[in-house]
Amino acid sequence: MALRRRQNVLNLVQEAQWDPILEWYAKAVVEMSRRPIDDPTSWRYQASVHAYPRFGDPLERPRETLPPETEQKRFWDQCQHHTWYFLPWHRMYLAFFEQIVGKTIEDMGGPSDWALPYWNYCDTGDPRACKLPPAFIAHRTPDGGPNPLRSEHRRAGNGGEDVATKHDIDLEKCLVEPAFEGLGGGGGTGFGGMKTKPNHKGGDKEAGMLEAVPHESIHSAIGDWMRFSSKAPLDPLFWLHHANIDRLWVVWRRRRSIHTDPTDVVWLREFSFYFHDAERNVVSMTPEEVVDTAASPLEYEYDDVSDPIPGAPLPHLRSRRVPEMVGSTAGPILLTLRRTNADVPLIRPTGPAARASTEDRPDEAYLNFENIAGSGESPTYAVYLNLLDIESADQHEETYAGQLPMFGLEEASRSDEQHPGSGLGYVLNITDVVQALDARGRWNADGLRVTFVPEHAIDVAVAGAGSSAVGQPAVTVGRVSLYYVRSE
Ligand code: C2O
Repeated sequence: MALRRRQNVLNLVQEAQWDPILEWYAKAVVEMSRRPIDDPTSWRYQASVHAYPRFGDPLERPRETLPPETEQKRFWDQCQHHTWYFLPWHRMYLAFFEQIVGKTIEDMGGPSDWALPYWNYCDTGDPRACKLPPAFIAHRTPDGGPNPLRSEHRRAGNGGEDVATKHDIDLEKCLVEPAFEGLGGGGGTGFGGMKTKPNHKGGDKEAGMLEAVPHESIHSAIGDWMRFSSKAPLDPLFWLHHANIDRLWVVWRRRRSIHTDPTDVVWLREFSFYFHDAERNVVSMTPEEVVDTAASPLEYEYDDVSDPIPGAPLPHLRSRRVPEMVGSTAGPILLTLRRTNADVPLIRPTGPAARASTEDRPDEAYLNFENIAGSGESPTYAVYLNLLDIESADQHEETYAGQLPMFGLEEASRSDEQHPGSGLGYVLNITDVVQALDARGRWNADGLRVTFVPEHAIDVAVAGAGSSAVGQPAVTVGRVSLYYVRSE
């Protein structure tokens, strides 16, 4: 069979009519939604493979039977987050979903080469890119029926407005990162995530760079179901979002020859993940089997994997990095819908990072955010450094350090048998910002001010006002700490 060709959904727009790819997708959503939840090819089973909403399934039907416990244990709640398995696991997940949708379409008399489109919200050259694709917000399909691609469970986007801020779609940070894997904390998290055991739902580990932005930031920008790992895949748009993330993995790999996937056998083949194929057969896959999307059983390609940031500066390469913590906040920080400051007193490095700091400025610096916990809709927080209270964040982009998107916040904060409930974690590489601040005389070796600026706060307030909960999110950040890194 020829390769399936995944295309940019914005190239599939045709006047009054829909492109057949979207028309067939809509038909398949209806057909798969009709199937019972214990059928592996049903819409809800497929979403449950990511995570089943155990604390309230919005689509529960009276007297339905869930698959047996043993089957649920093996195939459900498998999504891999805040780990270096994030990219390969989601690649497998999407590929089998695509094949199931493809077979559903073929069985309904459609084409045999259907491929999942992708939504490239990062395309800053196209003003349509940061709005939800038109077919996903239209109330009706071209033949006049209700549109199954539209979900009412989105906080933002259904009105045709822009959903993503410039920070949500920032590729400059993740695509320039030279390493696939990170060590976490002072070592950064890498493009693809930290070296961990399979890790369903984050736990206390930090998100990889692509996983945080734009992956989690887009989830959070849309909100409502999209902010839960257990409900996001019920929205037909989820799959186009993830196709774009999967495509960005290919883009990163191709951008520079030193961008390579892990060669560690632990990543390559120590763990197998289980899925069902379109014939409902059980398949087991290892990351090694999915590094090439053109190979069987994946067999797909993207119509565009060109470099979106060709002129980006090359980060300096290091063979060995030794981190040292030089400061942390004293107690937890409460974040609200307003801008909030936290002060981090700093000491001069005395250990491994001392030698590098000839001036009071490090070779590399990482800001670590631990135990972020909370419930309800939360804004995404943009982090600025050494911003004065009288300054507006918008006008001081040189102090912008990165984002804390809060995808899965509620699930990561709740403790149950699967999750420790320790909240979310992020690490920001702030080396460039520190240098920019230093060049302007705004870096201070004795103390760092970290300012959290809510984005999407207005939408969140409006969404909160309609619910029984008060419209104030209660997000706490357990600790912020700064690491200097000496690199050799
Ligand atoms: Cu496993 Cu975007 O989520």
